[in-house]
Amino acid sequence: MPSRYSSFVPLLVAIVVTFASWALAQIPATITEQLTTPERIESSKWWPTDGKTAKEEYVGARACLQCHSTIVNSQSQHSMAKASLPAESSEALRDAAGQGFRLSEYEYKIIREADGTFHYTASNAGKTVTWPINWAFGAGKVGQSYLSEQDGAFHEVRFSYFSTLHAFGVTPNQSLQPATSMNKASSRTLTGAEAQRCFGCQYYGLYGRQTL
Ligand code: HEC
Repeated sequence: MPSRYSSFVPLLVAIVVTFASWALAQIPATITEQLTTPERIESSKWWPTDGKTAKEEYVGARACLQCHSTIVNSQSQHSMAKASLPAESSEALRDAAGQGFRLSEYEYKIIREADGTFHYTASNAGKTVTWPINWAFGAGKVGQSYLSEQDGAFHEVRFSYFSTLHAFGVTPNQSLQPATSMNKASSRTLTGAEAQRCFGCQYYGLYGRQTL
């Protein structure tokens, strides 16, 4: 090779190696990376939303404290850790206790019991229904929605808290049209699969398949 080209050889090799490794990186290294999400869920021993693991099988964050205390302590302060809470721990509900508000022709009231639990009433035309509020979803930065547990099912409460408005309004995926019945004004019943998805993502394993 003429000597005037020799200084280009290492550069050329470097370019070829760079491009070759870039091209190789585009090819999935293992078959797992080519799976679709449902296939991946099926083939994984554990997946947050699969609901196959019973609550008792989770050790909980305390088990990590011994070695990762800094992470465990800071995680518990993070919005993600507060993304779903037992209603008793919801600040928005605590602040709203005793307050009433109106959504179309229905009047709502949030009530806090002496033991810290919450329920709400929906009233219209002299009729009142009472439902428990058991779970709060959303750290409260944007808002918070609520689940009511009754008759062995989960019900998405008709109202949510909107932080920017400092007020309660219709829960985002529910119809903004005025509720046509007391039942619709109270809540929307979730299917088992919907509830499992909520809890699967927000509350790893709190509700295993056995309990839903
Ligand atoms: C007996 C000590 C011990 C306990 C208990 C423990 N870990 Fe670890 N964990 C370690 C060590 C050691 C490492 C490796 C750290 C490293 O390589 O820098 C590690 C690494 C990790 C990593 C990888 C971190 C990274 O940056 O790659 C995660 C995630 C993790 N642990 C989560 C947990 C969780 C969740 C729990 C509780 C369910 C837990 N650990 C309990 C000792 C422990």
